[in-house]
Amino acid sequence: MKDTYILGIESSCDETSVSIVKNGKEEIATVISSQIDIHKNYGGVVPEIASRQHIKNISIVLEECFHQANMDLSDISAIAITYGPGLIGSLLIGLEAAKTLSFVTQKPLVPVHHIAGHIYANNLMEELKFPLIALVVSGGHTELIYMKDHYNFEKLGGTLDDAVGECYDKVARVLGIPYPGGPEIDRLASLGKPTYSLPHPLKDDSYNFSFSGLKSAVINLVHNEEQRHCEIRKEDVATSFQQVVIDTIVAKTMHAVKEKEVSHLIIAGGVAANKGLRKALQEACEKNQIHLTIPAMKYCTDNATMIAAAGYYAYRKGRIASLDLNSKSTDDLK
Ligand code: KG4
Ligand code: ZN
Repeated sequence: MKDTYILGIESSCDETSVSIVKNGKEEIATVISSQIDIHKNYGGVVPEIASRQHIKNISIVLEECFHQANMDLSDISAIAITYGPGLIGSLLIGLEAAKTLSFVTQKPLVPVHHIAGHIYANNLMEELKFPLIALVVSGGHTELIYMKDHYNFEKLGGTLDDAVGECYDKVARVLGIPYPGGPEIDRLASLGKPTYSLPHPLKDDSYNFSFSGLKSAVINLVHNEEQRHCEIRKEDVATSFQQVVIDTIVAKTMHAVKEKEVSHLIIAGGVAANKGLRKALQEACEKNQIHLTIPAMKYCTDNATMIAAAGYYAYRKGRIASLDLNSKSTDDLK
């Protein structure tokens, strides 16, 4: 069979990324331009600044990717683009670039949901085996997805309020840790002890999560300690917080794995980089003889490699968009 090369473009938040992937699993070249250093100064991503940076970056990143791949547009079978969810202005820049390339080359435009991309980051590690459960843990999502086949997503449950990454970032902020605080909380958590007592959110049999109560409990704890002029042991707060998060996520995920009788679990999204979570899931999967795939660190944060990988399977399913495709700030995974 002829090889299929997909060009992926991702600009949903603060990374401008372009990648070329062969047959949905082999990374040929990827370029990522991150804006983290700019947004750090504001304590979070500033949407207007993000879209302006994408405008500056997109052509350079595109050219560099083709240069690194030693390929040109004629080698590409289709163009996969993150149409949503994300920051609308940021999404539009990638989308306009993708539409322009599609129009000029007459190559198919393949719309990819950002979370489908995170899920397919796993396919760059090893082939997905169905049926499986995908645990999606990112800055904007916390969901359990059942997949019985390629590009077939059934949401079992999700967060009723904050996403887990958002919760990490807010806990980090109250501890005076710069954005994005998740990685630093993860690091501190490996150094402390779980000395602070925090509530366990939504401890039930459902597949839903709730993190806002936990987040508020940490914020209140820190404020109360400050008012009492007590020293806050950041490491211990991080360890106590992370332990509750991990316990909750692992319990719900393993419950889904058992109820749905799957033997393959994959994890997706920025929080999949969390060392404590990776270790806890590895242990739980070993104990229950479940095959676990975890994306390499470089595929956990936003990148176009995962979009091109997902795009390959979307393309094979005939998911082609017309040039009036619009970006969406929110959208269900489908
Ligand atoms: O997947 P992602 O780029 O965002 C969305 O697509 O929504 O994930 C970014 C999120 C941020 O909230 C960041 O703090 C968190 O992932 N994150 C982590 C870690 N690395 C990134 N959270 C906990 N532990 C980490 N090691
Ligand atoms: Zn993401």
